[in-house]
Amino acid sequence: MGVVRNLRQVDADAAGVDIAFRADVHAGLAQRQKAIPARWFYDTIGSALFEDITALPEYYPTRSETDLLTRHAADIAAATGPARAVVELGSGSSTKTPLLLNAIDPSAYVPVDISGDFLRGSAEALAARFPGLPIYPVEADFTQRVTMPDEIADLPKLGFFPGSTIGNMVARTAIDLLRNWRCALGEASLLLIGIDRIKDVATLELAYDDPAGVTAAFNLNLLERINRELGGDIPVANFSHRAIWDDVHARIEMHLVAACDMEFTIDGRLYAMAKGETIHSENSHKYGARDANLLLRASGWTPVATWDDADPAFALILAEATAFRSAP
Ligand code: AVI
Repeated sequence: MGVVRNLRQVDADAAGVDIAFRADVHAGLAQRQKAIPARWFYDTIGSALFEDITALPEYYPTRSETDLLTRHAADIAAATGPARAVVELGSGSSTKTPLLLNAIDPSAYVPVDISGDFLRGSAEALAARFPGLPIYPVEADFTQRVTMPDEIADLPKLGFFPGSTIGNMVARTAIDLLRNWRCALGEASLLLIGIDRIKDVATLELAYDDPAGVTAAFNLNLLERINRELGGDIPVANFSHRAIWDDVHARIEMHLVAACDMEFTIDGRLYAMAKGETIHSENSHKYGARDANLLLRASGWTPVATWDDADPAFALILAEATAFRSAP
C-alpha cells in the first residue's frame, strides 16, 4: 500500500517560510526574558541533530523508551488490541515506530510532523518495511488543530506520543494539547505517551549538555535557522549553550547565552542583547508518577497502564479517552 499522500497543513509565505516561525521569533525577542518556542528547533538540520542527540550515551530517554517498547510489546498489544489507526505526534524519524507497529498489527499509520523533508523520508522508509500498511503522512504542527485523513475516520485510533515531547510544554499548554487530541482522536481512542521522570540533577543536566557538544549545536542551530530563513545576521559564534535544572518548575531549561554586548537584525529589525543575557529556547519538564496521571486526567485521558523503566527513570503510559459524562 505504501505512502498514500502527504497532507500539508503549514501556512508558508511566498519564500516558503512558515509564517508562524517569523511571528514567534519577533514576538519572542521583544520580551524582557527573550524566548523562542522549542518547536522551531526542527528544520531539516535541527531534526537531524536531534536524531544525533538520541544516540548519545548521556541522552537516556530514547534508550529507556525503546527498551520499554521492546520489553512490553506483548502487554501493549494486549491492552490496545489490533486494527487501530496509529497517529504519531511529532514522528520525526519514526525510529521507535516499527516496535509499536510490529506489536499491535494496526490498520493504518498517520505520522504527523512539522518537518516535511524528514516526514517524507521516514514515511518512505516505513512503507518499505510495512508494505501492506496504508501510511498517510500529515505535514503539520501537532500543537495546532490538525485535520485527520478521511480514510481513517471510521477506525479506532491509538495516539502515539513518544519521547517525552509533552515535557516541552508548560502544564497549561500540555493540557490544551492533550485535550485537543482527545477530541481529534475520538471516543474510543487510546493514547500511548512517553513521560520522563524527575531524577538526580547530574543525570538530567548531562543529558542536556553532552560533552560532545551535540545538544549545543542543536540549540545554536535555532539562531542559524533564523539567519537562513529570516535573513538574520545574528553572530552565532557569540552565543553559548546552557542547560540547567529548575527545581521549582521541575524542568531542564535550555538557553542561548550572549557572550558579549551585541546588536543584530532580523528581517531588517534591530535587536540588542547585553553580555550574559539569554534567549530561553526550551523547557523539558519531568513528571513524578502522580503528576503525570493528574496531567492526563486533567486532559480527558484516564491512565489504564504504566510501564516504568527504573534507571534512569522513564515511563510509558497507556490512557483511554475519558467519556465526556464520566463519574466525578
Ligand atoms: C523532543 N524533546 C522531548 C527533547 C527533550 O528531551 O526535551 C528535545 C531535546 N532537547 C535537548 N535534547 C533533547
